[in-house]
Amino acid sequence: MSDIAKLQNQILAAIDAADTPDTLEAVRIDALGKQGSVSALLKSLGQMSPEERQVQGPVINGLREAVTNGIAAKKAALETAILNQRLSTERLDLTLPAPEAPRGTVHPVSQVMDELAEIFADMGFAVAEGPEIEDNWHNFSALNIPETHPARAMHDTFYFPDQMALDGKKMLLRTHTSPVQIRTMTSQEPPIRIIAPGRVYRSDSDATHTPMFHQIEGLVIDKDIHLGHLKWTLETFLKAFFERDDVVLRLRPSYFPFTEPSVEVDVGYSVVKGKRVIGGSEGWMEVLGSGMVHRKVIEACGLDPDVWQGFAFGTGVDRLAMLKYGMDDLRAFFDGDNRWLQHYGFKALDVPTLSGGVGA
Ligand code: DAH
Repeated sequence: MSDIAKLQNQILAAIDAADTPDTLEAVRIDALGKQGSVSALLKSLGQMSPEERQVQGPVINGLREAVTNGIAAKKAALETAILNQRLSTERLDLTLPAPEAPRGTVHPVSQVMDELAEIFADMGFAVAEGPEIEDNWHNFSALNIPETHPARAMHDTFYFPDQMALDGKKMLLRTHTSPVQIRTMTSQEPPIRIIAPGRVYRSDSDATHTPMFHQIEGLVIDKDIHLGHLKWTLETFLKAFFERDDVVLRLRPSYFPFTEPSVEVDVGYSVVKGKRVIGGSEGWMEVLGSGMVHRKVIEACGLDPDVWQGFAFGTGVDRLAMLKYGMDDLRAFFDGDNRWLQHYGFKALDVPTLSGGVGA
């Protein structure tokens, strides 16, 4: 056997014996590396006479090819073996819980508005809307708040300096959701049962007041409606909203230009471990303004107050959210701080209803 044939056998045996990519690489460097045995033979071709080269050339190149092919084949075999080994030992556990994808949360104001809409829908109320940019008539006059009335000053209204309504009066940002009462009564035949949640604006700012906040209005117009209907409706709503049967209401005589008689509604609380909890009657918190819709308001909307009566109520959505979910600074509601939202926000569709309870 020639020296070259011996060398080839030797190298192929080493390739065969290599059982890891590293040992195979060492064999490759020994043979085909710069100082390798096959490389040395290839270099020696340069020093040969043309006749000698004609004989040795094909032999040495044949050696190189055999070694190169042998290494490539072995490399592929080793990689396949490693892959098979991984496939048989590393298994995907499909029973592991999937990592939760980052998800947004529902803002407490949206949550409470959804809760209110659900609760009142169960009592047959539809949701009504009105514009946030209002005119004087809908926001004040039709609600029996005359020009000179001190109630107008109480509202700290934002007026548009240049935008006038048809009556020549300045347009304004609605100061309450009560104008939706007027818009509903002038566009829809009674009987009416609506709630109107939405943004309202007043020039006011501290820990419990922001220039923009949210109210919800309620309006029922029908025949033979009395204060008893109002009380039942508010009691049913507040029990469902606070998710407690021991909610106690206290109706106090009050004054609003658009209701007669007017009542302010307090809800009783108990003190549990130093904290106020809705339910019981250790103390009272004011939660709503309400009353029987004033005849003048019904008249202003073109209805006959001797035929149609009703009740109305209005309250702050943000305040309801603070009371139910224990937040104490209203300004944080509108800072858009994601940490606050992650903490106080809600999962989608987690809303209590009269019929279904929490999360129905
Ligand atoms: N609009 C009143 C306010 O902003 C709240 C209110 C009180 C609404 C009595 C009503 C009501 O519908 O009957 O302070």
